[in-house]
Amino acid sequence: MNNWLNREIDSCSQILEAVKHSAEVYLQNIDERPTAVPPPRLEPSTLPTEGAGTLAALDVFQQRFAPLMVASTGPRYWGFVTGGTTPAALAGDWLTSLYDQNTQSASQTGDVSAVVEFEAIKLLRELFGLPESFFGGFVSGATMSNFTCLAVARQWYGEQLGVDVAEEGVFALKDLKILAAQPHSCVYKDLAMLGLGRHSLIKVNLLPDNREAMDIADLEAKLIALNGQPCIVCASGGTVNTVDFDDMQAIATLKKKYNFWWHIDAAFGGFVACSPQFAPLIQGWEQADSIAVDLHKWLNVPYDSAVALVHEKHLGLQLNTFQNANAAYLGDPKANFNFLNFLPENSRRMRALPAWMTLMAYGREGYRDIVERNVANARLLGELIEHSASFKLLAPVRLNCVCFTLKDRPQAEVSQFLSQLVANGNVYMTPTVYLGQSAIRAAMVNWRTQEADVEMAFVEMEHILDKQ
Ligand SMILES: Cc1ncc(COP(=O)(O)O)c(C=O)c1O
Repeated sequence: MNNWLNREIDSCSQILEAVKHSAEVYLQNIDERPTAVPPPRLEPSTLPTEGAGTLAALDVFQQRFAPLMVASTGPRYWGFVTGGTTPAALAGDWLTSLYDQNTQSASQTGDVSAVVEFEAIKLLRELFGLPESFFGGFVSGATMSNFTCLAVARQWYGEQLGVDVAEEGVFALKDLKILAAQPHSCVYKDLAMLGLGRHSLIKVNLLPDNREAMDIADLEAKLIALNGQPCIVCASGGTVNTVDFDDMQAIATLKKKYNFWWHIDAAFGGFVACSPQFAPLIQGWEQADSIAVDLHKWLNVPYDSAVALVHEKHLGLQLNTFQNANAAYLGDPKANFNFLNFLPENSRRMRALPAWMTLMAYGREGYRDIVERNVANARLLGELIEHSASFKLLAPVRLNCVCFTLKDRPQAEVSQFLSQLVANGNVYMTPTVYLGQSAIRAAMVNWRTQEADVEMAFVEMEHILDKQ
C-alpha cells in the first residue's frame, strides 16, 4: 500500500479533528465572513508525485482557498435563492460522505440507504401536506427535478399518441406543446435537454397589474385551440422575481375538462405549504401529475438536493423512461424497485440523509418558523425600501423576495450600486430585469436571517447611495 494511505489508516481521527476545528472556526465567524470576495487570481496547483498527506493538503486548502470561501450559508446571503445549512443537515451531509452508500434498492443491494430515501420522501410529503399518492426520489437540484418530471410527462404524451418515446425517441413525437406563463429559465434548458426544444414552450399571458401569474382565461383559450390534442401545462409555484403563484385550484379545475399533464415547478415556493398563513397560495397543487421541489433552498440542506415528486399512477411511465437496459449484474428490473430505474442517475450518494436529519431535528414547527421569519424579514426590507427616498419597490413583497431599484436615478447606476454593495461583502443580492428596468433581488431562505440583518443591510444600502 502507498505510504501515505497506509499511515492514514490509523490517523483518521487526527484528520477529522483538524477538519472539525476548521468547521468550528468557519461557523463561529460566519456573521463576519464576507459574502463576496474579489475574483481570485490563483496559480493552479500541479499534481504531486508523492503527495504530502491529508493534513498537509488541508493546510494548503486553508491557505489558498478557505479564506476565499464566501458566507453563502450566512444570514445575509440573499442572492439567487440560496439556502443555508442547518446544523442537523450538516451532520447528515457529513454522515452521507462517511457511509458513502450508493442508494439503489431496498431489497437488492443489502443496505438501508433506500429506506432512508423512502422515509425522507414520506416526511417531505407530510411537511407539504401532499397525499401518499405522490412517489418521489432525490436528484441534484430543481433543474434536474423539472427535467425528471418533464421526461415522464414526455413519456405520457407519447402514450397518448400510441408512441413509446423511451423506445422510439422523440422523432416519433409531433407537436408537443408546453404551456407556461413565467417559467424558470431552467425549464427551457430542460426542454432542450429532453429533445423537445425551447420553441415547444408557448407563453400563456400574465395577469394584468404587475402580476407574474398566468391568466387562466388565456390558458383555457390555448387549451381550447389545441382542439383535444394533449399537452403539458407547467405551472409556477413561486416565480423568482416577485414570487407569484399560478392559481393551482383553477388549473386543477381545467384539468378535469382538458387532457394535459400538469407539472408544477415549486422549487422554493412549495415550502409555503408548511405555514398555515401561506399554504393557501399553493392550495390545489396535490392534484398535479408532478411537482419539483428544491431542498438546497428552503429546507436549508447543503447543495445538491431536490426531489422529483410524481403521482404513483404514472409509476409505469417513469420506470419506462429511466429503465436501464437489462444488465444481469443489476438484477431483474421488473422484479424489484430500484432507484436506478426510476431517476436519471444510476449511482447516487445518500442524498436523502441531510433532509431526513433536518426534518427529524426541527419538524413542522421548525420549518414553519424559517418560512414565516424569512417572509417577515423580506417584508421588513420591503417596508424600509418603500419608505425611503432612495429606493423603489418594483412589486409588492408577496413572499420572501424583494425586487427593487433605485429611485429617480439613471438605470446605469443600478448596477454600479449593486457592484459596490456586493464588493463590500456584508450582504449579497443579485441583479435582474423587471418591467423592463434594471433591478435587484434579495431572496431570503436562510434559517439564520434575523431582523438585525435586514436593518444592517439597509443601513449599508443607504450609505452606499449617500456616497455615490
Ligand atoms: C423556481 C425555480 N426553479 C428552478 C430553479 C433551478 O434550481 P437549481 O439551480 O437547484 O437547479 C430555481 C433556482 O433558483 C428556481 O428558483
